[in-house]
Amino acid sequence: MSSASREPARQDPATWDPATRFAGRPGFRFGPPERAVEVSSRALMAPMMGYNEAPLRRICRRYGSGLAVTEMVKPEKLLRGDPNVLRDLEFADEERPLGVQIAVRDEEELLPALELLAPRGFDFVDLNMGCPLKKECNKGWGAALLKDPAKVARLVAASVAAVDVPVTVKVRTGYELEERTAPEVVEGAIEAGAALVCVHGRTKMGWYREENDLSAIADVVAAARGRVPVIGNGDVVDLDTALAMFEQTGCDAVMIGRGAVGNPWVFREVDHYLRCGERLERPDFATVRELFEEHMEGVAEIFGERKGFRQVRRYAFYYFGRFGLDNAWRARAAQAKTRAELAPLLDEIERGQLSAAS
Ligand SMILES: Cc1cc2nc3c(=O)[nH]c(=O)nc-3n(C[C@H](O)[C@H](O)[C@H](O)COP(=O)(O)O)c2cc1C
Repeated sequence: MSSASREPARQDPATWDPATRFAGRPGFRFGPPERAVEVSSRALMAPMMGYNEAPLRRICRRYGSGLAVTEMVKPEKLLRGDPNVLRDLEFADEERPLGVQIAVRDEEELLPALELLAPRGFDFVDLNMGCPLKKECNKGWGAALLKDPAKVARLVAASVAAVDVPVTVKVRTGYELEERTAPEVVEGAIEAGAALVCVHGRTKMGWYREENDLSAIADVVAAARGRVPVIGNGDVVDLDTALAMFEQTGCDAVMIGRGAVGNPWVFREVDHYLRCGERLERPDFATVRELFEEHMEGVAEIFGERKGFRQVRRYAFYYFGRFGLDNAWRARAAQAKTRAELAPLLDEIERGQLSAAS
């Protein structure tokens, strides 16, 4: 099924205005009324393995992400009580609404895993059907499911029957480059009870090389026919790319992954614009530093000082990238072993900023 022949669900540019389209509805809800999840913003943090610590989820929620989702959990790891997985499933109430994302392949592993997850109190369960990693797809996980819409429908139905919270799906547009199966997959998933769909506009084979196809996302929006919210995902990095996603796909919300790393303000930027039609200034160095300190502190509390620092150090390049880091600074920062060793390097940027500003 190719989207090439179809027109994207483009709104009339003369009248299209996100602030009007969502007027009085800055958020949305999904799931059956008795267990609906209320989402306060239409900009959402994407699950990203390795970029999903609880402190970061907390920060993103506070800075305007309408919800958070854990990174993908493999059922077999959960079932054998892998201590890292169990640690990563800890969360705080400030992260809510929070979904747990699970890798899916068949009922045999999925259902016992869902049973183990139930008492943890996640607000929804997200089924991963988009992971493009070869080692996962070759064994039938992730995007491999996009080749088998009937199986997707079966797995969604089994999940919906097994849990008391809404079940959502996250897909790519298809598996093969020219086979955009997502509309059919999503149709089956919604029929089977999926309460929300997120679609990344690339195929599994397109990896991150092919262009993010907004018209293929629009096809999924069309297939959903307003029955459930559809989240558009892929290459949203700022307000303008978010607006293009809304405009060209008709999606209900945008999900932001790589563009939010070191840039959690992006959620507020989008959310604020949809509420008030106003563009926010980007935060200054002091604000960014304060937030990075909070992020580092939160990670140190979970992993300990040294291990925690190893995990968050790379974020420095993202948080501060726009303040003009040079290669020498990057090389020295990469050598820092503790927060205390990094602090003078951050002072250097600050002084550079101050002298540039004076
Ligand atoms: C390092 C990395 C890890 C990811 N891990 C997950 C994951 O665990 N679950 C998932 O559904 N998607 C995962 N994704 C995909 C993202 O959620 C998102 O769909 C994709 O990056 C496109 O959005 P973006 O252009 O805003 O980054 C990952 C992406 C990256 C780059």
